Amino acid sequence: MTHLAAALRFDGEPAYAWRGVLLDVARRFRPLPELRRLVDLLAAHGLNVLQLHLTDDQGWRIEVRAFPRLAEVGGRRSQTQLGHGPDATLDGVPHTGWYTQGELRELVAYAAARGIRIVPEVDLPGHATAILAAYPEFGVGGAEAVRARVAEPWTRFGVSDEVLNVEESTVAFACAVLDEVCDVFDSDVIGIGGDEVRKERWHDDARTQQLMHERGLVDERELQAWFLGRVAAHLAARGRRVLGWDEMLEGADASRLPGDAIVASWRGPVGAELGARLGHDVLLCPDLWTYLDYRQSDDPCEPIPVGTVLALEDVASFDPLAGASAVLRSHVVGVQANVWCEHLDSRERFDYAVFPRLGAFAEVAWNGGPLDWDSFTERLPGYLAWLESRGVDFRPLDGPRPDQQRPGVPGMPRDRASRLAELARLTADLR
Ligand code: ACM
Repeated sequence: MTHLAAALRFDGEPAYAWRGVLLDVARRFRPLPELRRLVDLLAAHGLNVLQLHLTDDQGWRIEVRAFPRLAEVGGRRSQTQLGHGPDATLDGVPHTGWYTQGELRELVAYAAARGIRIVPEVDLPGHATAILAAYPEFGVGGAEAVRARVAEPWTRFGVSDEVLNVEESTVAFACAVLDEVCDVFDSDVIGIGGDEVRKERWHDDARTQQLMHERGLVDERELQAWFLGRVAAHLAARGRRVLGWDEMLEGADASRLPGDAIVASWRGPVGAELGARLGHDVLLCPDLWTYLDYRQSDDPCEPIPVGTVLALEDVASFDPLAGASAVLRSHVVGVQANVWCEHLDSRERFDYAVFPRLGAFAEVAWNGGPLDWDSFTERLPGYLAWLESRGVDFRPLDGPRPDQQRPGVPGMPRDRASRLAELARLTADLR
């Protein structure tokens, strides 16, 4: 595929070593030809990392030979939430899919040949419903109780309260899964998640509390750091560094989290600054600027509008280091756009969400700062023509075509002020 340099502007050497995109194949399995197509598109955009979000409450997408039910049971759900918010319904359509290890090895090689590193992510110890559907013994409260709560991967979206338990056998399970992940992916960085771990089940469970106290841990935040630290140490012994969301810093200290762990900062600058102060490398992916599932305008015709408005112009004005301290500046390894696929259930819907915003993001990632909007808009027709020539069904600049809308399917738009307030609350105790 031709490089896009004719339409996009890439000056000199790239500003960031890590210029990534996350694809959420856990919520929506995507056939391999689509992943290869995405790799081609990323390479043409000067990007060099594809983080594959392989597991979540709604699905498990990688074959694990030691635990075959993860894919066989965790890779199927009977139906899926349609829309977002209180009026969302269920679609009644079964959803199935996972990748064999052989397929993923081929993808790794295909991507490497195009200058793209695939960073796999297995989300631990929260976002665990698909795991528990397959292996309830790893949940909180005993296998019988978990089986009664979890019949299949979650058919709803949001943050489930199902988390792994903290028995040694569960840590061993996680490490065995990651061993197979390391055998498939040659990336020196392995994602272990760590985001949005609900603490209620740990808090209310006598056995978890007993283990927590036996280990000298004062609260569930430290317990989370203990779990992630155990997994990270195991990966370190295999020569791999971990990548985790900024929640990974909750309750963590140098004795629990390896110094080379990379913090993916998605909830504003607080986690990024703390991670850098603790000596970690930092990947910047603040949701307000880089979450490409967020709605592209205030138009109620945007398909299933969620999140805050993130228009093309907003992405173009993304200044990754705005307000960053000197210590953070010295620890930023890169930037990443995250494509969560709750509502992106086809290639066309993926294209609509991602393009042309990815063009602006790619220039920011390469050049290191916000774009000159006038210059970008002059080049935009050439870029859109290029996308069209590649069969990319991008969002028209003036809004969705009728066939790109989702009339009657509810969304849950947010405004920036309320999201900023929520982020402040969520990160208040990160220190
Ligand atoms: C995330 O968006 N939960 C990392």
